[in-house]
Amino acid sequence: MCGIVGAISNNRNIMPILITGLENLEYRGYDSAGIAYSKDNNVNIIKVTGKISNLKQKISKDVESNIGIGHTRWATHGQANSINAHPHKFKHITIVHNGIIENFIEIKEKLKEKNYQFKTDTDSEVAAALLNYYYEKFNNIEKAIKEFIKNVIGSYAICLMLDDDLENIYTIKKESPLVIGTTDNTNIIASDIRAILKYTNKYYILDDFEYAKVNAKEIIIKSKDGKIINKNLKVFTEKNIDNSKGHYNHYMLKEIMEQKETILNTILPFIEEGIDSLEKLPDLTKYQEIAIVGCGTAYHAGLVAKYLFKEIANTKCNVYIASEYRYQNNFLNKDTLTIFISQSGETADTIAALKLVKNKDCPTLGIINVKNSTMSFLVDKCLYTNVGNEIAVASTKAYTAQVALLSLLVLAQAYRNKSLSKKEVLQIIEEFKNIKTLVNDVLNKKDLYQKLAKDIYKEEDIFYIGRGLDYALAMEGALKLKEISYIHSESYAAGELKHGTISLIKKNTPVISSATNANLNAKTISNLKEVLARGANVYLITDENYKEDNINIINIPKVNIFIKSLLIVIPYQLIAYYIAVLRKTDIDKPKNLAKSVTVE
Ligand code: G6P
Repeated sequence: MCGIVGAISNNRNIMPILITGLENLEYRGYDSAGIAYSKDNNVNIIKVTGKISNLKQKISKDVESNIGIGHTRWATHGQANSINAHPHKFKHITIVHNGIIENFIEIKEKLKEKNYQFKTDTDSEVAAALLNYYYEKFNNIEKAIKEFIKNVIGSYAICLMLDDDLENIYTIKKESPLVIGTTDNTNIIASDIRAILKYTNKYYILDDFEYAKVNAKEIIIKSKDGKIINKNLKVFTEKNIDNSKGHYNHYMLKEIMEQKETILNTILPFIEEGIDSLEKLPDLTKYQEIAIVGCGTAYHAGLVAKYLFKEIANTKCNVYIASEYRYQNNFLNKDTLTIFISQSGETADTIAALKLVKNKDCPTLGIINVKNSTMSFLVDKCLYTNVGNEIAVASTKAYTAQVALLSLLVLAQAYRNKSLSKKEVLQIIEEFKNIKTLVNDVLNKKDLYQKLAKDIYKEEDIFYIGRGLDYALAMEGALKLKEISYIHSESYAAGELKHGTISLIKKNTPVISSATNANLNAKTISNLKEVLARGANVYLITDENYKEDNINIINIPKVNIFIKSLLIVIPYQLIAYYIAVLRKTDIDKPKNLAKSVTVE
């Protein structure tokens, strides 16, 4: 995980480039940070715990340099403290590193035998030490890098400064993303081009096992055997990147409110001209089965789609957590389409699962938000969610866009395999066209969500239950709450509660549920009564006119099954948000989390 940036120039101070770059990369982790820069031919290092704002405070305003590297960390090996923070310096070599060196223990032991001593618990310090070992052995940094690539197992994007050569930054890449941006007499390395767009939109992408020597004038990219590679310069053209919070206190609230636009923006090309537009979606009827893979919120979006594929489009579908999928027998075959869902397009486990399917030459489809992300290049076909930048760590507008796109894929499938009649499909499309008003209606019940939040924010355990589609939504509701409020929240299939979990219900335990399926609602309500009888405080989100003693009802508009989940999740998002406000947590950057999880 983590974010890296490096900059070298012969006509400007690179310190602001490092700081801006790191601020833009904080979505990759923010538990500690550091920079290294050269001053009077010496490498100076500043490291702090916490966010980039802490780092900024430690760097005196008058520091100027023409070469430097920086890092924002999400701890994997060793605690989040300033010792374990990057950059790591080992004699001649200073590095920042993204990724995981899997054989670091073995390397560390070998280096210890050669009297190397280590100060940190990190795998990254071992990478620095190994590079130093090879550098001393060959007295040649490129030979050292090539040897490093040969012997290291794991993933890495590395920026390296060498005491003996402060005219160049060296960079090495395997599996963790790395780009080299270029502008007048200044070259900038980063783990994401978006981090350095203020300075340049022209960049090279490094591929696995490549390394580069970068100075103010030139960028020389080489393969692992040292051959020069001529790469095409890319130009990042995406416009309208709005990184402001507007008048909102948090990005999360802004992004929740944006859903009245983003859902429609995502699906409009596939509904505006009725069936003709829907036909633009890939034809899935040629596959025997659909598999869906994702992590976190993206996995939950997949669960909604699974329900719809099976129940409405009569199509076999399974959903997998990417980190499980990659280590199990998936009976891969060409008759199964695997759909990969990811906001960032950079999640390590999802990428690994995707590579697995591609290696078997089986068909893939991506539902991705970030254009030009690693996954977008790997999938056979990509549908973009187009919700713009999602900055808050807890995903909201990306989730609803994923669900909306997946729902349309199901609708197209149901039309093509005649599970639904043309008339039914057209009615559903018309209702989708009205999504803005429907979403607005649910967003506008702020007072209700705030009151509920006030009632329950001091609790330490909250349960979410549901059946069928409502169970998939309960999982997302519980995840949103725990991510940002740090309240222990769990989701259960409503019928499973009495097989164990009900023992945890005590006086005032909040139990939140949704009931949207006429055939199952009565059963869910019975389950709610069971917990009510044991003292729970019960809340029910529904599109029916239920009036039940002691059950607090939140009504949403009555809509077709394809749209229900898009509306139900909004109260879940806002309840979590307002609870987190009352608990005064760091909502946009909750502790221990990161927006983009680029390690296994
Ligand atoms: C992290 C984020 C989640 C996100 C998940 C998958 O855990 O904190 O919000 O759902 O990664 O990310 P992706 O970018 O692949 O959708």
